[in-house]
Amino acid sequence: MGFIMDGLEAEAYDRTYSDRHLIGRIIRYFRPKLPVMIFVAVMVVLSSLLDTAFPILIAQTLDTLQTSRTVQTVVLLAAAIFVAGVLSWLCNFFRQWYTARAVGDVVLNLRNDAFKGVLARDMSFYDEFPSGKIVSRVTSDTEEFATVVTLTLNLLSQFLLFFLIVAVLFYRSLHLALLTFVIAPVIVLLALGFRRIARNVTRRSQRSLARVNANVQEVVSGITVAKNFRQEQNMYNEFKQVNEQSYQVNVRSGFVYNGIFPLLVMVANLGTTIVVYFGGLGVLDHSVSAGVWFLFVQSINLFWFPLTSIASFWSQFQLGLSASERVFALLDADPRVKQIDSQPVGRLAGEVEFKDLFFSYNDRQTVLRDFTLTIKAGETIALVGHTGAGKSSLGKLIARFYEFQGGQLLIDGRDIRTF
Ligand SMILES: Nc1ncnc2c1ncn2[C@@H]1O[C@H](COP(=O)(O)OP(=O)(O)OP(=O)(O)O)[C@@H](O)[C@H]1O
Ligand SMILES: [Mg+2]
Repeated sequence: MGFIMDGLEAEAYDRTYSDRHLIGRIIRYFRPKLPVMIFVAVMVVLSSLLDTAFPILIAQTLDTLQTSRTVQTVVLLAAAIFVAGVLSWLCNFFRQWYTARAVGDVVLNLRNDAFKGVLARDMSFYDEFPSGKIVSRVTSDTEEFATVVTLTLNLLSQFLLFFLIVAVLFYRSLHLALLTFVIAPVIVLLALGFRRIARNVTRRSQRSLARVNANVQEVVSGITVAKNFRQEQNMYNEFKQVNEQSYQVNVRSGFVYNGIFPLLVMVANLGTTIVVYFGGLGVLDHSVSAGVWFLFVQSINLFWFPLTSIASFWSQFQLGLSASERVFALLDADPRVKQIDSQPVGRLAGEVEFKDLFFSYNDRQTVLRDFTLTIKAGETIALVGHTGAGKSSLGKLIARFYEFQGGQLLIDGRDIRTF
């Protein structure tokens, strides 16, 4: 199994943010959209209220029909159901419409920021990290981010519905409501356990996708070299391996995600069975009215749905969270080249002085060790040395493309890190 996970470790600049941090940051992106979000929230509440009204209305009518068997009652019910349906549709329409706009705007901003992050990273960043993986952070990961928000709103509305229903159920029959709740801990435990596994699986599948992207991107950008050296077969073999890995990872995550949902549905069905049985007994001995029994059987699906859907939404939600994590990590990657000050610069004469300088691109090899050289202003010098001696590196240091690790680099006698 080892080979499946090879190379799917986090990139060095990946941070592991807590869910709280991630969500806090996502919310910050939404802050400018606050009025729209409040409107959406109101629509969510209204549509939840209307959705709860359906089973209650029908249950009420069922009980009323026991005593007054009139056409009028039925007409009234039909009219009420119709009106509630239309209103609920309107609320949902506005909710989806405004959510889509707000989410679109936020993705626009996030993607701009991610791209700005790409430009802001140091040269050394790109020595280390394949550009393909970075591309997928800017394109697909920002997209995934949007799903977090849409799903969270859906989940919120479902939870609201859940609490409304629970309140109604307890009000109508304490005895049956308690029975309904027998299953709840099992569902909650299952969902929580799943939550832990899901995050890991999700991260791995995203990384394997990024690996596929990186591979394709590298081959395409270096295709002339590859063809000159007749490397097509090798590249194909390499891609096949990466692609196979992505397949394995996805199959595994598919098993995890698709396994949990049926399990939850089964447990929920057990809950329905209990309510049908005990509610039925209650109707027989007249401790529960037919209307209330109907209300329970009808609303138990509404009731379980939020709980079971956390589990199924969780996968999507986790995908979105880890995608946003990847985008934020790209934004937050520490700059290697650090200025200690930013003083204004006058006209420079151009004296360059390397003083006991230490420099390496990575920990495998030191390029400059205790290097000292003074180039006077206006002086022309020739750097001579075998290939790889470090001639070009001197220029890169003066351009501040890379950070040196020790000693000083002075321009006109001033530390280059203070400009
Ligand atoms: N981006 C990089 N990442 C890691 N190592 C690097 C990088 N660029 C150069 N090196 C290494 O640093 C050393 C110095 O490289 P540099 O390019 O400064 O040599 P050079 O003297 O300019 O060589 P040449 O005469 O071939 O141009 C070499 O061993 C090289 O392999
Ligand atoms: Mg060179």
